[in-house]
Amino acid sequence: MRAHVGDHLIVESPTTGATRRNGEIVGVHHNDGTPPYDVRWSDSGRVSLVFPGPDAHIHHTGHPAGTAAGAGARPLSDVEVAALVRDASAAPSMHNAQPWRFRYFRGERLFHVTADLARTLPHSDADLRALHLGCGAALMNLRVAAAHTGRQPTTRLLPDPGDPTLLATVALTSPLGDEDDLCGLYPAIHARHTSRSPFADTEIPESVRTTLREAAGAEGVSLSFASGWHLQTVLDLTLEAEARNLTDQGSAADLTHWTQLPDQTPRSATEGVPPYAFGPRRHGGKAPVRDFAGGRPVPGRETADFESSPQLALLATPGDNPNDWLRAGQAMERVLLTATLEELSSSFITQALEWPDLRWPLRDPVAGAGHVHMVLRLGYGPPGPRTPRRPTRHTLDIQP
Ligand SMILES: Cc1cc2nc3c(=O)[nH]c(=O)nc-3n(C[C@H](O)[C@H](O)[C@H](O)COP(=O)(O)O)c2cc1C
Repeated sequence: MRAHVGDHLIVESPTTGATRRNGEIVGVHHNDGTPPYDVRWSDSGRVSLVFPGPDAHIHHTGHPAGTAAGAGARPLSDVEVAALVRDASAAPSMHNAQPWRFRYFRGERLFHVTADLARTLPHSDADLRALHLGCGAALMNLRVAAAHTGRQPTTRLLPDPGDPTLLATVALTSPLGDEDDLCGLYPAIHARHTSRSPFADTEIPESVRTTLREAAGAEGVSLSFASGWHLQTVLDLTLEAEARNLTDQGSAADLTHWTQLPDQTPRSATEGVPPYAFGPRRHGGKAPVRDFAGGRPVPGRETADFESSPQLALLATPGDNPNDWLRAGQAMERVLLTATLEELSSSFITQALEWPDLRWPLRDPVAGAGHVHMVLRLGYGPPGPRTPRRPTRHTLDIQP
């Protein structure tokens, strides 16, 4: 069996021959088109990895999804709109607060991406920078997912000066044009997870670092790997921030609100950081992974030695306003998706970014000016676990 992205997988009843399920192949894992495939099922809109059995065959559509003739012209069904929002919502957000909402205008084929101000972190993110980063990441996923369906995502940031909660609009009216380089990132959207486990000390090759820098550069954002005394400075500032966070009532309140220990009454199964994603407690090594337990005991949690020379990359822009934050968020997700395809694991080291006096000295001394928006920890290690997301009935509304 061989297939291209865009073909359909048809599963038939072995007794009657009637079609039981039909799904679009949205990812092919082998260059020669043999299984397994990522299939988006038409009945649920969900994507799953499928090893087709004898009751399945391929319906060839004759063109890959990215170039699907007329795809840009065909209206999206509500199931397809919800599938795009599920892809967007797989994005990372601080404490998994998922501070986004989506509105789709069927007639105009236009998404509004808005900030959900009920999901802010008042102490750790008072200026809403982290909120914009998370929403920027969701916007990047939406662009990738739209491009993957063969539609050009024409994006405008902050289109209404009178409404700062309207973060972006994405029009899907044209066939795919100059965003076609985004299609290849699609398989990484649901494979990327934050990994708070130890990584190997294996160095990331220079060619891969260059690919990651280019991914950030494509969004107008610089990515630099910290080394030497700059790396030491970033580690020291992060430890200082960790120490402050432990005794700062506001940070502790944000953390407690969005995390849940096993002995607590569940507050919601669709948001926040669950204990299984905390990773082990750091015993040795230098990677300053945030301890989501905040010093509280978690029964059965292991300790581990982390890498002795963490590989940290900083995202920065010359400016520091909501437009920069949204660009940085898109760049962050583009880097993370690219890293996932390069078989790298990733996590975030943002403690020092939450204290204005610690944020400024984080910047790259060689590049000079620039505002740091994110510190990423990258390396070879176990992938992180999937964490929950809010269902689209809570995040999406569709207008005529
Ligand atoms: C702006 C921002 C800041 C974050 N800060 C941290 C951090 O300091 N430490 C950490 O382990 N994860 C951090 N995260 C990752 C989130 O906790 C994670 O994205 C969320 O729990 C969802 O999990 P997932 O990334 O595995 O999908 C941050 C994410 C964003 C977007």
